[in-house]
Amino acid sequence: MPRSTRTEYGVGLNAVSEHRKDRFPTRRGFVTAAALIGGAAVLLGGYRLAMDWLDAHGAREGARHYAAHCAACHGPTLGGQNGWQSAGWQNQDGGDWPAPPLDAAGHAWMHDDGALFLHTKNGSARSPMPAFADTLSDNEIWQIFAYVKSRWPESLREFQRAGDPYADLPADLPSDWTYPPACEPGAAPGGAL
Ligand code: HEC
Repeated sequence: MPRSTRTEYGVGLNAVSEHRKDRFPTRRGFVTAAALIGGAAVLLGGYRLAMDWLDAHGAREGARHYAAHCAACHGPTLGGQNGWQSAGWQNQDGGDWPAPPLDAAGHAWMHDDGALFLHTKNGSARSPMPAFADTLSDNEIWQIFAYVKSRWPESLREFQRAGDPYADLPADLPSDWTYPPACEPGAAPGGAL
């Protein structure tokens, strides 16, 4: 009597030939693995898309907040105010202290995320840098730095991520870049501001 398909693949699994017995789990394993890999790829792709969207969204919002709250001092394109690197600029006790650039020409990228965030939230009692704790939410401050960092070349982003102000400086700094007086390696250990 010919075996039914149901007998062969289902209830009567023991009765199928050795050959079939070997192939069946292999094929099932293959399909399961392919489904898992495919599913993981779809999930990962979706995750990356979501993260890219969040980054782009954060940077766009950040650009808006930057224009409203920071550009007057740090410049509409992050370029800072004239004379920001002049000697003694850090000792002017709240007087005429020019705001430094926040792009590659400045040195904000030498400080870690926490230092940048806290300096913006708390401001500085020694300089015209205002505290934004009552004006901006934490999220809005992070969005501003998502925007600021989106303007740094990848080499500076890597340098900043590594969090080591003593590391070799990136090779592609602007040609006229020098350390500002308050920010030589060792003056800002650990990236504090
Ligand atoms: C009234 C002018 C003024 C405004 C407005 C202002 N800043 Fe500043 N900021 C300064 C000055 C001056 C300094 C330099 C002295 C210091 O570090 O406190 C500074 C320093 C900084 C630094 C440290 C940079 C470095 O390289 O060490 C960061 C970061 C910063 N500001 C972020 C911001 C952000 C973000 C905003 C807007 C939410 C903002 N600032 C608005 C004047 C300003």
